[in-house]
Amino acid sequence: LNGTLIADSMKEVHCMARHILRSQQYDREALTRLFKKTGEIAARFARPEERRALRQLLDGRLLFNIFYEPSTRTRMSFGAAARNLGMRVETTESAGHFSSAIKGETVEDTMHVLCAYGPDAIVLRHNEAGAAARAAAVCEVHDVPIINAGDGTGQHPTQALLDLFTIYQHHGAIDDKTIVLGGDLAHGRTARSLVYLLSKYPRVRLIFVAPVGLKMRGDILDHLREHEIAFREETQLEAAFPDADVVYWTRVQKERLPDPSIYPEVANVYTIGVPEMGLMRDNAILMHPLPRVNEIKPEVDSDPRAVYFSHQVRNGMLIRMALLLDVSGVAW
Ligand code: NCD
Repeated sequence: LNGTLIADSMKEVHCMARHILRSQQYDREALTRLFKKTGEIAARFARPEERRALRQLLDGRLLFNIFYEPSTRTRMSFGAAARNLGMRVETTESAGHFSSAIKGETVEDTMHVLCAYGPDAIVLRHNEAGAAARAAAVCEVHDVPIINAGDGTGQHPTQALLDLFTIYQHHGAIDDKTIVLGGDLAHGRTARSLVYLLSKYPRVRLIFVAPVGLKMRGDILDHLREHEIAFREETQLEAAFPDADVVYWTRVQKERLPDPSIYPEVANVYTIGVPEMGLMRDNAILMHPLPRVNEIKPEVDSDPRAVYFSHQVRNGMLIRMALLLDVSGVAW
């Protein structure tokens, strides 16, 4: 079975055990609630005596972080988020190389075993689209929620949620905003997941900028047409940046290119430096899920509109605190 089929057949499952599998599962009401909760967590986390109280909320519960693909931010921010709520955290890095997967164990079997150790939630990053939904089908039986931390070229819903929250926090709204998404839109799961969330806001306008061969895939474009979201594709930064409230840039996913030999060529099509920032409005923001390779020059980092090392990463930890509370069913 391929990942998409499995993901589709799993549509109902996430409603039952509070899994977080893909960004479409959130409706606007749920997003508004999540943002309010994240704002409250941020305010409490800023005060030392409140930090102690936050650590009581999931005191003694157990989180498993299982990563089959490389990760720094997602893994560490989930770890930090969990500990800030008092959870204990067990982590495997490079599970694809050092775990029993190398011996041929399926993700389903691994989940059966992990669930037997009694975790309160499992954060899973995997290299195959649909893996999180497959894991959820197993963990459902054990009543353990799965949080998809990126499944191949599929989805990365918690990243999309923190990205949407960052836009909301800066602009005070999502509706009416023009968002430029650029870089490797064909393989980047963060951009794909974010578009699904943005399409919940009927008046947003999207502009896609990607090298030939890395353009946003047809499934997403069909989704936008179906939901009557205005979008256009541009090839020049000059035609996109001046209209943007948000520029969301991504790296070329070298490891996912069907032909890796094209990397040097496609990776150098767009580079954002000080002159390109000059095309952007004063109140626009530049976002990036990170890791940044060379698509944004370090000279841009000190521009106050560049939020990838500041609000965006910080929001990752805060929103993951809110999400861990959600999947644990702890009332706020
Ligand atoms: C992204 C991912 O893993 O999809 N990183 C992240 O989680 N912030 C982006 C990437 O790898 O390019």
